[in-house]
Order: sequence, then C-alpha cells, then structure tokens
Amino acid sequence: MALPFFTKKNSQTQTDSAIALPEVLPQHVGFIMDGNGRWANKCGMPRKFGHKEGAKNFKDLSLYCRDIGLRNASFYVFSTENWKRPQDEVDAIMDLFWDYLCEADQYLERRVRMVFVGDRSRLQDRLQKRMQELEEDSKDFEKMNLILAINYGGRDEIRHATQCIAQQVQAGKLDPSAITEQTISDNLYTAGLPDVDLLIRPSGELRLSNYLIWQCAYAEYYFTDVLWPDFNRNELNKALVDYAQRGRRFGGI
Ligand code: IPE
Ligand code: IPE
Ligand code: MG
Repeated sequence: MALPFFTKKNSQTQTDSAIALPEVLPQHVGFIMDGNGRWANKCGMPRKFGHKEGAKNFKDLSLYCRDIGLRNASFYVFSTENWKRPQDEVDAIMDLFWDYLCEADQYLERRVRMVFVGDRSRLQDRLQKRMQELEEDSKDFEKMNLILAINYGGRDEIRHATQCIAQQVQAGKLDPSAITEQTISDNLYTAGLPDVDLLIRPSGELRLSNYLIWQCAYAEYYFTDVLWPDFNRNELNKALVDYAQRGRRFGGI
C-alpha cells in the first residue's frame, strides 16, 4: 500500500518541492539534532533561542515519524559531553526538556511508547520522576517507540552494560564463555529495541559524537548541511528516499 503524501504547512524554511515518501521505511531512524547554536547565530539571537526552535522542530518531527508509520525513532537530546557547555546553556536545555515532558501526554494519547536512554542519575529529580512516569504509562503502546537520549554517551552505555554483565558473572548467574553479542545488546539501555537502520545528522558535521555507537554498527548514514531547526518534514522525506535507494549487504554479496 502506498503511503500518503505529507508536507509541512506554513514552513518558512521549506524551499524544495514536497517529496513523496518511499514505500520502504527503515525500522529505526536515529536523529542527531545538531546545529541549534549556529541557527541562532545566523539570526543574531542567543544560542538558547536555537534550542527553543530545535525543540519545536523535534516535537513536529517526532509526531510526523509516528504518523508516517515509523516503528522506532530515536533523538539525541543531550550527550554526556554536553555538560562542558556554559551552565546557563545547560540549564536552558534542561528547562526545555522539562517543558516537553510536561506536554508529553499527547504522545500517550497517540499510543506512542516513550523510552529514555542514558544515565539518569545526574538529572534533576523532577525530570527522573516524570521520565519514569511516562515510561510506565506508555509501556504497552504499540504505535511507535520514541527513544530519547538524555545524558547519553555510547561509551558510557557500554561501560554500564559491562558492569551489569560483570555483576551477573560475579553472582554466578552467567558463565563468561556464554557471553555473546546478544548478551551485550540485552544489557544496553536500548535492550529489546532494533539497531539503527538510518542515522541522520544535520548541520554539516560528519561524526557520530558518541551516539548509539554499538547500535549504529551497520546503519546507513545521511548527512546534510541543513541545521536542525530547519530539518523539516520534507528534509526527512528526502533522507528516507535516499535510504530506500541504498543497497545493504551486511558483509554478504
Ligand atoms: C545541538 O545543537 C543541541 C545540543 C547539543 C544539545 P548545538 O547546540 O550543538 O548547535 P551547534 O552545533 O553549536 O550549532
Ligand atoms: C551532539 O551534538 C549531541 C547532541 C545533538 C545532543 P554536539 O554539538 O554536542 O556534537 P559535537 O561537539 O559537534 O561533536
Ligand atoms: Mg553541535
């Protein structure tokens, strides 16, 4: 069945003609939401303004992902390295995240399951509490998994998984010789979720920046110079069309 044709109305940034969606969609699309600061800079505004616009775009695109039938969409919200930023910028990002969590019931109404990945222990209590609530209340929803990476780092995730596995070995529940790649996947924050098929990074940077490094082992990469607040529905359609034309071999022929 052909998927419907979507365009974003009233977008000031949309210059290309609307692109139709392909029939084949990836199982899991990962988004590195980069370029907010440069976007604000271009408008002569403070970086915080870029994060606000980036958050608006995230809300629109995450709902769009659900509406077009993507099963798993993950978004890089805040990395383990982002604490290096000035305190007022970190605070602004955390406040936007809080505002977002307060409005998140609309995802539950749309039967979206919310999953948070990353080390929560360093986050404010109110964030941790709300994240847990949303995960609990949406755990049976089947429409799409919305995965949000907050205080997330791929290396930190592997460190954490290694600790969990070591504890199982120490407790005599796991034999070291029985450790497989699946054991590692099962102990990551993303346990039970599929690996990334398509990784999208706007803003012109050509790197993973510690995002889902284990899960992206065989991902297809899509890079564009468009900055995150301008990466609209039409840009996503373009990326999906590009993905549909790739030949994935996974080492075979
Ligand atoms: C991404 O935009 C948002 C976060 C990392 C939280 P940036 O803030 O990195 O924007 P640029 O890369 O400086 O333009
Ligand atoms: C990656 O963007 C992190 C998020 C988008 C949350 P950064 O802007 O932090 O990455 P680098 O510093 O350019 O690698
Ligand atoms: Mg950046």
